[in-house]
Amino acid sequence: MINKGIILAGGLGTRMSPLTKAVNKQLLPIHDKPLIFYPLSILMLANIKDILIIVNKGQLDQYKKIIPNGKNLGIKIKYEEQDKPRGLPDAFILGEKFINKKNVALILGDNFFYGQNLTKNLINNSKLKIGAKILLHKVFNPELFGVAKINSRNKVVSIKEKPKKFFSDYAITGLYFFDKNVSKYSKTLKPSKRNELEIVDLLNIYKKKNKLNADIIGRGGAWLDTGSIDDFYKTSAFVQAIENQQGLKIACLEEIAFIKKWINKKNISNQIKFYGKCEYSNYLKKILKTKN
Ligand code: DAU
Repeated sequence: MINKGIILAGGLGTRMSPLTKAVNKQLLPIHDKPLIFYPLSILMLANIKDILIIVNKGQLDQYKKIIPNGKNLGIKIKYEEQDKPRGLPDAFILGEKFINKKNVALILGDNFFYGQNLTKNLINNSKLKIGAKILLHKVFNPELFGVAKINSRNKVVSIKEKPKKFFSDYAITGLYFFDKNVSKYSKTLKPSKRNELEIVDLLNIYKKKNKLNADIIGRGGAWLDTGSIDDFYKTSAFVQAIENQQGLKIACLEEIAFIKKWINKKNISNQIKFYGKCEYSNYLKKILKTKN
């Protein structure tokens, strides 16, 4: 069972400069809310309430302004600073104390997931006991991602980071589930040629032990990596289209917490005061009018 989750929300955001010169990428808007709300909502949907957000050194104050702590969301949020982007597995080294030899989920701060069976899939994966689990999604530009080749029984045969030559069109999405050994294994990794600890090297440790499993997010699910400016606008447009059509918000953190009965209407009123007069608060006011 996984009760702990890490959001890796540092990085220099170089590809999006000058937008990211003063503000961290994960605080830039995806339609009506900061990007960080989306990965946070995914952990909450997976029933993960104990969360560590890793941010860039010097940017902690920016994050605390928008998510000071998890109190009004019924969750626990801690922060840790990363002094430079040492690679994704650094999350498990920086977060070793937080992980405390328990199983843990990692979501990259710039990943967006949406789809009908998503919550079921997340809750299912958070039941992981041993090994590691990755989520794969078919893409048409696999050279931009970590990629996995699978056999007919969905078993991972091999994985590579950003392969130049075609190898498989299953991208490894930025949501991973690991057992309690993850910090120990991460500490054995050596930096790659680009001087980063590589997530595929960590996954390969699990694979060698025959403990790496994969799930596929099918065609009905959307996964978008908001790594570039174009991806940002694409994701924003996607959220805008769905929200305007349905009148329901994607990644409204208070709504998720309220449905899960982690918070009450008093917490929502506090959040309305905190956000002030805005469209997001108007949406929260509608929740206050619901029964229960
Ligand atoms: O999005 C999925 C992909 O994410 C995977 O398919 C790849 O296997 C994985 O390596 C990763 O590739 P990216 O090139 O997208 O990783 P990027 O360096 O952009 O980092 C992803 C997020 O993590 C980004 O929001 C910044 C943050 N980050 C990254 C590093 C390396 C940190 O906070 N600290 C870091 O040290």
